[in-house]
Amino acid sequence: MADSKLTMDKIVNLCKNRGFVYPGSDIYGGFANTWDFGPVGVELKNNIKRAWWKKFVQESPDTYGVDAAILMNPRVWEASGHVASFGDPKMDCKNCKQRFRADTLIEAHSKGAVAAEAMTNEEMEKYIEEHDIKCPHCGVRNWTPIRKFNPMFVTSRGTLEEGSDKVYLRPETCQGEYVNFLNVQRTARAKVPFAIAQIGKSFRNEITPGNFLFRTVEFEQMELQKFCKESESMDIYVDYKARALDFVKALGLSEENLRYHDHDKLAHYAKAACDIQYKFPMGWQELNGIHHRGVWDLSRHQEYSGKTMQYIDPFTNEKYVPNVIEYSIGADRLTLALLCEAYEEQALEKETRVVMHFHPAIAPYKVAVLPLQKNLSEKAKEVYALLSKKFMCDYDETGSIGKRYRRQDEIGTPFCVTVDFDTLEDGSVTVRDRDSMEQIRIKIDEVKKYVEEKIEF
Ligand code: GAP
Repeated sequence: MADSKLTMDKIVNLCKNRGFVYPGSDIYGGFANTWDFGPVGVELKNNIKRAWWKKFVQESPDTYGVDAAILMNPRVWEASGHVASFGDPKMDCKNCKQRFRADTLIEAHSKGAVAAEAMTNEEMEKYIEEHDIKCPHCGVRNWTPIRKFNPMFVTSRGTLEEGSDKVYLRPETCQGEYVNFLNVQRTARAKVPFAIAQIGKSFRNEITPGNFLFRTVEFEQMELQKFCKESESMDIYVDYKARALDFVKALGLSEENLRYHDHDKLAHYAKAACDIQYKFPMGWQELNGIHHRGVWDLSRHQEYSGKTMQYIDPFTNEKYVPNVIEYSIGADRLTLALLCEAYEEQALEKETRVVMHFHPAIAPYKVAVLPLQKNLSEKAKEVYALLSKKFMCDYDETGSIGKRYRRQDEIGTPFCVTVDFDTLEDGSVTVRDRDSMEQIRIKIDEVKKYVEEKIEF
C-alpha cells in the first residue's frame, strides 16, 4: 500500500502517540538512537520475529535454531576480523550511509600508485577532495571527516576495576552460529546442507545512526547460515535470494517498493552478495543481505580456535570445511519497513482516518472488544476473556464507538468485535473489518474460528 507522501516524522509521531515506539530513556531527554518498544510495538515486533522463525526454522526441516550468548570469547572477534579493524581510518558517505576505509579508496583510485598508509587523516581528506573520489556505492562525493573508528562496544569482565578483561558486545549474531556449527551438526545429527538460525540483539558504534529504527546502536538481527558443499552453494544462494524476497512480500511489503541490489564489489573471500532494498520514506535502502561467504568464517574459526571445523560426509567419508550462505535481516529495520508500508491516510466522507494495514498475522492485537455502551461491559469482558485465551486482544469502553474504531485503525487491529443489546438476547456480536470497514453479525462462538482463518501466515 505505502503512502507516497509518507514522511518519517509521521511514522515517528504515530509510534510515540499510539504506543509502538518511544524514545529511549525519554524522561531524561532521550539517549540518542535508542528506542523503547511500547505495548503495541512489542507485539508487532514479536509477531514479525515469530513469522520469520516460522518460515525459516519451523517450516524448514534442515534448519536448527540456537540462542547464543551475547558476550563471546574475545578471540571470536579476532577471527571475525572486527578487532583488526579497530582504528582503521574510515569515512561514511552521508548520502547512502555506506562506510569505507579512506586509505583503500585512495589506493584503488590511484591504482596502487599512492601509499595512503603513510598519510595523515588531513592529507587523505585533501587527496580525496582534490581527486574528486566519489562513493563507490552511490557515486556521490559527500563524505564525513575521517575518523578512527571502534565498531564494537567494549565492556569488561571481572568485578575489580583493575585486572578485568576486555569483552565486546557482539556486533552481529552470526558468530554464535559459526562457533556452534559442529555442536549443532553432532547433536541434531544434521547432514550438510543444513542451516543454523538465531534471533538476538547486536550492538554497533554506528558513525551515522539515524532515521528512527533504520540504523540504531542496539538492534535485533534475524540471521541464518546455511552450511553446504561448494558445488551446491550457488544454487542455495539463489534460493535464499528468492526465499528472502518471498518472505517480506508475504508479510505485506509491496513488489514496487522492493528490489534486489547485487553487489559489484565483493569482499576478497565472498563469491556473491546481494541486498534486498526497500523504498523507505528517505529512499531506497538495504533491508537485508544474502551473502555467499565461501569458507572464510569457518576457516578463520578453525585457525583461531585450533579446533577443526571440518565436516565428515557420512556417505563418502570426505572431510571438508563447508561453504556458508548467509541470510541476515534486522528485526527493527523490517518493523520500520512494515510500519511505512501499512500506513495510510484515507479520505472518508467527513474525515480522514489513519489506518495501519498490517497483515493480520503481525497486527499487534488481532481483536478489539468494544461494548457499545458501558452498561454492556460485563458481557463484553466475558467475550474478551474468551478470545484473549487465543489471541492478543484489546478492550476499550471509553469514547464513542466511532472514536474507538479509529483508535484501533491507527494500531492496525484487523477486527473489532462490538457487544450490543442484541448480544444479550441472541449471543451474536458485530465483527468490523479494519480495511473494508464492513460489518458482519456472527455468534460469539464463531468469532475464534473466523479470526483464526484470517490471521493464518
Ligand atoms: N552478519 C552479517 C551482518 O551483520 P549487515 O549487513 O551488517 O550484515 C545485516 O547486517 C542486517 O542487519 C542489515 O541488512 C539490517 O537489516 C540490519 N542492521 C545492520 N546494522 C543495523 C543497525 N545499525 N540498525 C538496525 N539494523 C541494522
